[in-house]
Amino acid sequence: MTTLALNNVRPYGEDEISILIDVADGVIDSIGENPFDDADEVMDCGGKVLLPGLVDMHVHLREPGREDTETIATGSDAAAAGGFTAVFTMANTQPVIDQPFLADAVWDKGQAYGKCDVYPVGSITNGLKGESLTEIGLMSRGHVKMFSDDGKCVNDPQLMRRAIEYAKAYDVVLAQHAEDHRMTEGAVAHEGENAARLGLRGWPRVAEESVVARDLIMTRDYGGRYHLCHASTEGTVSLLRWAKEQGIDVSAEVTPHHLLLTDAKLESYDGVYRVNPPLREDRDTIALRDALLDGTIDVVATDHAPHGSEDKCVEFENAKPGMIGLETSLAIVAQVFVESGLADWRFVAKVMSERPAEILQLSDQGRSIAVGEPANLTLVDTQAPWTAHGEEMASKSKNTPYEGSEFNTRIAATWLRGKQTYDATERRKS
Ligand code: NCD
Ligand code: ZN
Ligand code: ZN
Ligand code: ZN
Repeated sequence: MTTLALNNVRPYGEDEISILIDVADGVIDSIGENPFDDADEVMDCGGKVLLPGLVDMHVHLREPGREDTETIATGSDAAAAGGFTAVFTMANTQPVIDQPFLADAVWDKGQAYGKCDVYPVGSITNGLKGESLTEIGLMSRGHVKMFSDDGKCVNDPQLMRRAIEYAKAYDVVLAQHAEDHRMTEGAVAHEGENAARLGLRGWPRVAEESVVARDLIMTRDYGGRYHLCHASTEGTVSLLRWAKEQGIDVSAEVTPHHLLLTDAKLESYDGVYRVNPPLREDRDTIALRDALLDGTIDVVATDHAPHGSEDKCVEFENAKPGMIGLETSLAIVAQVFVESGLADWRFVAKVMSERPAEILQLSDQGRSIAVGEPANLTLVDTQAPWTAHGEEMASKSKNTPYEGSEFNTRIAATWLRGKQTYDATERRKS
C-alpha cells in the first residue's frame, strides 16, 4: 500500500487532525489525532483547511471547436488549480454536444488527462437551435447526467414541456439558461441607470424572471429535476423562494461574479465585464447572497466562460459575453461568506461540493471527509494574500474580471482519488 499523510489539517476549518490516504485505492485509509509519520509521503499541512474536492456544475471548456480558447486539458488544469475534482462542461461547443459519441469523447478525454472528472452536458435541442429535442434517453445511458442548451434559452414552451417530460422519464437534470431572447435583442448590459447613462442597450430582469416563473410552474405540474443556471436577480430569488415553499423540487445556482460584482463596473466600458446574464445591481447581489445562505439557491457554479482577447478586448457592444472563474471561485466565496463572518467552511463545502454532487447524483464526489471515502480533496490556505492575474492562470484564456484584485484565500493542493492534481508550490509565474 502506498500511503500519503496529510498531517495537521483542519477538515471544514474545524479541529486539527491527520489523514492517511491509500494512494493506490484512492481512498481515505485512516484519520487520527496524531501525525502519520510512517507514510510513504508525508505532508505537514500546518493547520490549513481541508475540504471535499469542489464540484462545478457549470463550465465551458470549448472543446471541440474553440481549442484556441480552452481545451479539456487546460480547463482541467484550471479546475484542479481552483480546487475542483469534477466539472460539468456545457454543450455549446462546435459541434454542439447533441449526440452520444460527442459526449463520450468529452468524458474520455477528461479521464485520459486525469486531472478532473469532466462530465459532458448534453444539449436539449439539436444544434442548440431550439427546434427539435435530442436523444436524451440515448445520451443518458452514457456519461450524460445533465442536459442544457446553455448559452441559449429553451424559450418554446411546448418544447420545454416535452424536454421536462423526457428528462423526468430518464431521471436526468434539465438546466435552463433563463432568457427571453425577444426581450434581450441587442442587449449587452443590465437594464438600469448605469446602462442608460453609458448608452448601452439593456437586458431587463424580467427577461430572466418571466422564464423562471414559467419553468417553475411547469415543474410543479410536470415534475422532473429542473435546475436554474446563473440566477441573477432579486425577483428570481423571490420566485425560487415561492417555489420551494410550495414544495416544488427545483435547484438553482449563482455565480461568484453575480455574488460580488455589479453593473457599476461597466463605467470602464471594458468588455471583460460583459456576461450573460449581465452584472446587476446591489440589491440583486444582496438577495443572491441571502438566498445562498438560506438554501433558496443551492450551489455556487462558476460559468467559467473562456474567450480570447480578440473577442474580449474590443468595444463593449462587440465583446463576447463570458468570464473565466475556475481559479478565483473559492477565493471569492471565502471572501464574501467566511472572511466576512456570514458563514463557515461547512457552508462552503455544502454549496461548492456536497450539494452539486447531490443534485447530479454523483456517488464519488462531494462525500464527507471520512475513512473509506474517495480521496477527492482540496487543501485551502486561508492566510495567503495574493493578487489575481490572468496571465498567471492555468486557463488558456485570460478574461478574468478580477485582474489586479486581492484575495486572502488560495488553493494549496488538490487530490483526485488520491492522486495530486495541483500543487501550489509549483504554481507557474510570469
Ligand atoms: C457563456 C459562454 O460564453 O458560452 N457566456 C456567458 O456569458 N455566460 C454562455 C452562457 O453561460 O450563457
Ligand atoms: Zn447561460
Ligand atoms: Zn454558461
Ligand atoms: Zn496582471
